Amino acid sequence: MDPIETLNSITESLLQSPSALSHSDRRQVLQACDRLRLFESPADSITRLVFSAHQLMALRLGIDSKLFDAIAAHVDSVKAAEDNPDQNNHPIPITLSEICQSSRADPLLIHRIVRFLVAMNVLHEVDQNHFISTPFAATLVSSSPFSAAVIHSTHFTTVLSRLPEYFHANGWKCPDDGMNGPFQFALGTEGHYFDFLSSTPYYGQAFDTVMSMSFRRRGIDWFDFYPVANRLSIQGDSHPLLVDIGGGQGEDLSKFHARFPDLPGRLILQDLPSVIQGARKKNILTPAIQMQEYNFFQPQPVQGAKVYFMRTVLHDWPDKQAKVILGRIRDAMASESILLISESLLPESGALLPSVISDMQMMGSFASLERTENQWRRLLEDSGLELVRVWLPEGCGDDARSLADQPALLEAKLK
Ligand SMILES: C[S@@+](CC[C@H](N)C(=O)[O-])C[C@H]1O[C@@H](n2cnc3c(N)ncnc32)[C@H](O)[C@@H]1O
Repeated sequence: MDPIETLNSITESLLQSPSALSHSDRRQVLQACDRLRLFESPADSITRLVFSAHQLMALRLGIDSKLFDAIAAHVDSVKAAEDNPDQNNHPIPITLSEICQSSRADPLLIHRIVRFLVAMNVLHEVDQNHFISTPFAATLVSSSPFSAAVIHSTHFTTVLSRLPEYFHANGWKCPDDGMNGPFQFALGTEGHYFDFLSSTPYYGQAFDTVMSMSFRRRGIDWFDFYPVANRLSIQGDSHPLLVDIGGGQGEDLSKFHARFPDLPGRLILQDLPSVIQGARKKNILTPAIQMQEYNFFQPQPVQGAKVYFMRTVLHDWPDKQAKVILGRIRDAMASESILLISESLLPESGALLPSVISDMQMMGSFASLERTENQWRRLLEDSGLELVRVWLPEGCGDDARSLADQPALLEAKLK
């Protein structure tokens, strides 16, 4: 068969039953699609890349102007008014003036945003004045985590766009100070990115929502491949079992508690006051999880816990500040304490696109980096700790490239 026919036939057969693919199969299919981009001409590549920021911004404008909310509310109200629930799946058109009704935006501006969204297939156009929502548009209402992801990433473009000027001004040195890097340069501030998030609820909430999104967890939790029963047993309920430092709104501890409800020992969630207050307000955590407002540059208030855990925290900090954070943990650890660090490891070579994007995100927001195993080992050693073992989910194998897409768990102890 001719290669194009083969490609089309494989594509058709995959599209017949997309849900039959596992998460890992789906990723491999998408990676194969990315490889096919090698067929792009330089002009094709430039055209695709230089206009991608506009599309993300069109989504953001749709979210902030609340047009996705207006469309969803219209669809809900029409459905609610219908007598026949069997007809509930038919498309419900909305006019431009209906979209504009609850918005303060200029109707011409809304029209231009809607036109862009139609060109992106986010909305469908019936005729000049009637539009239909899509499943994707429905996920962009204000309350959705997807809109939080768009808000968070479009704000980050403020930093990205100033990277060249930052490097010109700083002699093309690799950023290495979380208090004085590309973020501070781009926003003209002296505060850390997390200070900005704490003082700007719109972006702070978007960040917290993105951090708790399931796509960041890839369906695998650290306790799926770490021998919890062997290593995490302690005597007595009053002793601290697991301290999740920078644990966000408690996603990881909640899942851990749901999986091991009977393990003795206290579960403690630590994060900055604004994050803990956000978690308290949501009131979704089990009372088994104790919440503690804590700044990890200060002495650790929980001494001698069995496990100090940090997930995707240290990649936010360059070595300069990561050593201070690790030093606070080291000072609180007892000889039998374990430090568990859950992060994606950057392979020493052959890193895939999601990993290098994350590395650039760390550089821009935090003057930080994604680390390889060797970089982690050195950081831990410099902080008076010893890397005992890197745990990986089963099936990860020896293919270094696949590590880029796998959550690793680094186990360390006192040196
Ligand atoms: C990338 S998020 C990771 C959150 C969570 N561990 C997870 O994986 O979803 C980093 C967390 O570190 C917290 N953080 C930042 N600076 C902190 C500080 N000085 N003290 C305590 N927590 C801090 C942030 O508020 C945020 O929740």
